[in-house]
Amino acid sequence: MDRQALRALLIPIQEMCNKFAQQRITRSTIFSYKREIEELVNQVNYKNLRMNRPSSLEWQDTGAPTHFAEIHFSENLQIGAFGLTNIGCKVPLHDHPLIHGFIKVIYGKIEIHSFSTKTHLAPEDDGTIEALYEGSRILTPEDNAIYLSPGNGNLHEIVCMDPASVFFDVLIPGYQDCQCSYYEMPRPLPPPQTVAVVKRRPRGGDYWTAAFDYPRLFDL
Ligand SMILES: [Fe+2]
Repeated sequence: MDRQALRALLIPIQEMCNKFAQQRITRSTIFSYKREIEELVNQVNYKNLRMNRPSSLEWQDTGAPTHFAEIHFSENLQIGAFGLTNIGCKVPLHDHPLIHGFIKVIYGKIEIHSFSTKTHLAPEDDGTIEALYEGSRILTPEDNAIYLSPGNGNLHEIVCMDPASVFFDVLIPGYQDCQCSYYEMPRPLPPPQTVAVVKRRPRGGDYWTAAFDYPRLFDL
């Protein structure tokens, strides 16, 4: 499957990421390129991905609440597609230490709850951190990509609102050697723009992903 149109969007993103890496990735560096990256990610859709909408029935057979395909991976850039099987399935609250993220919905509808923390250091398992609840947003393929920076919205939970929802996820520079940490969603949800205490939870639990059948782009 040739995906020239997708490559044409991803090559400039990879080139910008390579420049970031040479300059060290800082907030000011990424902000100067943010709009350019957003414009490219905004153009990603099911046509240039050449992706048919997965069948939620097929996904129900895997029993997994979420599905994942790595689309492209390099030293400075990690791109994947997440699939959420059914309404209410979620990618639980997790962090992105020092990572800049762009999310674009390809199919269906998702809700993103975001929190901002002042530190990129996760507490120990069952430890807590304070996080500012930024509120939630509902996104569909008609919406532009959203941007999450290390200082803003760097913790998020993503909830499926339409069976077989798919979103495209760009992480700069990606998790590299570190792993994300998972947290318990504070319930009841705090009012937006208030600080909540969130508790780190051990990996695993009821969250797991099955493979999303979508071919990887080894070379752009
Ligand atoms: Fe995430």
